[in-house]
Amino acid sequence: MAILKMLNEDKTLTNGQAIAKYLETLGIRYEQWTPAHPIQPRSPAEDVLKAYAGEIDKLKALGGYVTADVIDVNAQTPGLDALLAKFNREHWHDEDEVRFIIHGRGLFHIRPKEGQVVPIEVEAGDLMLLPKGTWHWFDLCADREIRAIRLFQNPSGWTPYYTESGVDKNFQPICFGPLHIPGQV
Ligand SMILES: [Fe+2]
Repeated sequence: MAILKMLNEDKTLTNGQAIAKYLETLGIRYEQWTPAHPIQPRSPAEDVLKAYAGEIDKLKALGGYVTADVIDVNAQTPGLDALLAKFNREHWHDEDEVRFIIHGRGLFHIRPKEGQVVPIEVEAGDLMLLPKGTWHWFDLCADREIRAIRLFQNPSGWTPYYTESGVDKNFQPICFGPLHIPGQV
């Protein structure tokens, strides 16, 4: 499950409810889902979408999302570095960014309009909904692998707009992982 760093308080949140509550103050929706039917990490995209059909329909109704697909990237993905370079700089979209992680891990950094940048590492079971206009950037973890359901309001228009603030350069794209949580082994 997700790991959220509260940098200004030197605090780490790993409890789903606590993470959801904190992100809610920033206008970001976070949930933890379990599949309607168990699926394997490598299940074909259509099986993944079928397993989560109920949740996808609920989200579609909630946010006006019209399409859902499965993004699947890993170290073998051709042009991976070029793809990542599009999203690991601070940007925003003019539609919501909705990701439900099926497999693998990744690191979002979210920069609220006021206050400290919030790094949050996501993994299987995590749903993130960044409203349109949210400043953020995204990196893969060291294993360079993630699989996620994406929802779109407009199937053709999902473009990053870069802020060019340079803030992203002050943060290491390094995931935290379970070994970094005090009290866990
Ligand atoms: Fe994005």
